[in-house]
Amino acid sequence: MSNYIIEGGKRVEGKVKISGSKNSSLPIIAATILNGGKTTLYNVPKIKDTEMMYEILKTLGAKVEKKNNKVVIDTSKIEKLEIPDDLMHKMRSSVILAGAMLGKYHEATFTYPGGCDIGTRPIDLHLKSFEKLGINIDKNYGKIRCFCDRIVGEKIDLDFPSVGATENAILAACLAEGTTVITNVAREPEIIDLQNFLNRMGAKVKGAGSNKIEIEGVKKLKDVSYNIMPDRIEAGTFLCLSAISGGHLLLEDVNPSHIVPILTKLEEAGCNLDIKKNEIEIEAPKRLKAVDIKTMPYPGFPTDMQSIFATTLTIAKGTSVIVENIFENRYKYTRRISKNGSKNYNRR
Ligand code: UD1
Repeated sequence: MSNYIIEGGKRVEGKVKISGSKNSSLPIIAATILNGGKTTLYNVPKIKDTEMMYEILKTLGAKVEKKNNKVVIDTSKIEKLEIPDDLMHKMRSSVILAGAMLGKYHEATFTYPGGCDIGTRPIDLHLKSFEKLGINIDKNYGKIRCFCDRIVGEKIDLDFPSVGATENAILAACLAEGTTVITNVAREPEIIDLQNFLNRMGAKVKGAGSNKIEIEGVKKLKDVSYNIMPDRIEAGTFLCLSAISGGHLLLEDVNPSHIVPILTKLEEAGCNLDIKKNEIEIEAPKRLKAVDIKTMPYPGFPTDMQSIFATTLTIAKGTSVIVENIFENRYKYTRRISKNGSKNYNRR
């Protein structure tokens, strides 16, 4: 779709069911490589990014069958361990396949993912984690070949709690010899969803949601069925749609505990929220109030909601200040290590 034509001036009202999470689906689709068998996934959103992941898996030799709300992925005949350049460039998060390919086959070749509209997308933390696990990395004319004979569990301390680097390190370590301990990890709910999926497959991963994850390597993983969790950014987007239009919406199939900072900011802006276990009802005021926002690693305010709030707040009374701290500006943050070993971020 090249353009949207929006006829405005209407209050958005009604009920909406929230789709499965995009950011959970992508690493979980990649993780299907690990069992070398059949995985059935429910609630994967039907969007370009998931279609692209299926395309890449198919070029590696997997079979993908889609039926209604179900996708069956068969990775028993993977024969290629290189992500095609054009697909890698179309989808930056395809780098997440590397961890799964390395975990299962000890080899993966891909190109640098490149930047995007919100800034540069480096992968140094992914590569550093692979190196820590004893994986060799050859960089040649933009191509990265990662390979090793075996993966042995290690201690990895991430310089920054990158979501993708955390996921890639987990995927590479699931079938390793011994135990891998990763500290300063991302704490996003999508990492918990990945842990739950992997454990259902027979992996031994614990700690997701905290800042330390332990993976005890297992020899083999089994076929599995899994239901992807709801998308917290889609939920936040519908809430903002209601807020910006003075609307009244009921969101179903949502996990309110994943979007606490979004709910807090909408309440500060004057919205009325009725929060239940899997439902949120929002009633917007006639005029929103200005609020200030600073994006932070989870459980802070999510960077993916920053532009949506910026749009919503254009009609608020007063001036809102929005500070982006995850992309581009992340080096403004220093890591403070407390006496008990936990790490916090402080603005310099
Ligand atoms: C994921 C989400 C994306 C979200 C982002 C931050 C998926 C598929 N995408 O992206 O929607 O906006 O988390 O919440 O889950 N960085 C490095 N080196 C690295 C990796 C990251 O410097 O090797 C930096 C990035 O440039 C950025 C910060 O770390 O400044 C956070 O990035 P990261 O958490 O890795 O985001 P993604 O996993 O790419």
